[in-house]
Amino acid sequence: MKKVYIKTFGCQMNEHDTVKMLLILAGEGYLETGSMEEADLMLFNTCTIREKAHHKAISEIGRAVQLKGLRSDITIGVCGCVAQQEGAGLRKRYPMIDIIFGPDRILALPELLMRVRSGGTADALDLIDDRSNYRFMDKVPAEGCAPISAFVLAMKGCNCSCSYCIVPSVRGREISRPADEIVEEVGALARAGSREVTLLGQNVSAYRSGDGRRGEGLAGLIRRIAGETEIERIRFTSPHPLFINDELIGEFADNEKLCPHIHLPVQAGSDKVLKSMKRGYTRDLFIERASKLRESRSGMSITTDLIVGFPGESGRDFEDTLNMMRRVGFDSAFAFKYSPRPGTWAAEGMCDDVPTDAKERRLSELLALQRSMSRDRNEALVGTIGDVLAVGTDRMRKGFITGRRADNRIVHFAGNPSIIGDIVPVRINGANDNSLNGELCHDGEEVQRS
Ligand code: SAH
Ligand code: SF4
Ligand code: F3S
Repeated sequence: MKKVYIKTFGCQMNEHDTVKMLLILAGEGYLETGSMEEADLMLFNTCTIREKAHHKAISEIGRAVQLKGLRSDITIGVCGCVAQQEGAGLRKRYPMIDIIFGPDRILALPELLMRVRSGGTADALDLIDDRSNYRFMDKVPAEGCAPISAFVLAMKGCNCSCSYCIVPSVRGREISRPADEIVEEVGALARAGSREVTLLGQNVSAYRSGDGRRGEGLAGLIRRIAGETEIERIRFTSPHPLFINDELIGEFADNEKLCPHIHLPVQAGSDKVLKSMKRGYTRDLFIERASKLRESRSGMSITTDLIVGFPGESGRDFEDTLNMMRRVGFDSAFAFKYSPRPGTWAAEGMCDDVPTDAKERRLSELLALQRSMSRDRNEALVGTIGDVLAVGTDRMRKGFITGRRADNRIVHFAGNPSIIGDIVPVRINGANDNSLNGELCHDGEEVQRS
């Protein structure tokens, strides 16, 4: 067997693409290895969402290229969003790269490898914007090999034009995957051992089973998956606040399989900043949707993404963001310093005028606020019992299991590894900033869930 080393950067979309690439490569006789040194093929599935992510990918590729200087028989492939952004130009910097391919051309991988074997380099960089020409990867792991929690692609691309964001230019236009195909894949994953799926899309809330705006939306898709497959938990990411409609909110209320958690990126809390980000909603609209979501289901958890230091963000705008965070009471949040991305509206037409030290100060103030809100919300759960999907052993503590509650909180509890893959009742007895501690409820114990 040949060996492939694959390094994945960025979002769940890339994680998903890596899993599919490994399945494709298994068909070509490749086994995964965790060591660069013993690989015949090294793949870098890259991200360019912020400058730092881009640098990280480039420096890892640099390491691989050095290794190839010592062992010329290694094949180096670069894929993902840096590959799409930089294209064949990447070879100017690193002539040793054999293959460069974009996120829409993963299925071409066997053919690209064949071209390299017969000498030379191979690239596949076109974005596919036409639904009839786009094929979603449908390979599913064999029985017993499926991840407990699996990603399933619902759509690709993004038609939004958030002024800071490079994603539309590297992932192309939206194409929704036919609902039958998605239901079939979830069914196959459930049969192969998965308990939970996360439906993926850059703006998954824009999902439509038909062409353009026609057909069933995300709520209908979730209903079908819940009704037609054996999967126990359904999640989706990432939705856009503007696309959260009453039907989807109703699904949270009515569908037990849909987990009571939504990751709903708000980005900023000032109307002025939201407008220059071209997000298409106001602070009030976001607050209204978030409170409807909270009311839809008990224990509903809302998490978010935030950007600090966007061009023109004043101290007052930043205060508006903090106030909005308090208003919504996010359960947790990811926050980033604004990073200008080439070709975006904000980078080309606006001045990156918030000084780095102000960005840093705002970021740490925001994170401190979120930390205290997360802890308060976690502490409020002490004493309650919730169902936890045991996903693995706890890397920090021997004899402990790490699991995920339906509300997406991580819980650590003492347990036997034989329960991995099971959904078990766990009583919460301690809270941290980003996780909970608990104890398994034993058989015969009366379990009254809150
Ligand atoms: N498609 C998803 C998320 C895309 S990227 C969505 O729309 O929600 C994940 C997060 O990275 C974004 O939510 C945003 O907070 C952040 N991000 C994107 N571009 C950025 C930039 N140029 N600078 C800083 N953060 C950025
Ligand atoms: Fe980027 Fe906006 Fe699309 Fe998200 S919705 S991927 S932030 S353009
Ligand atoms: Fe990064 Fe591309 Fe995802 S830029 S965040 S890997 S879509």
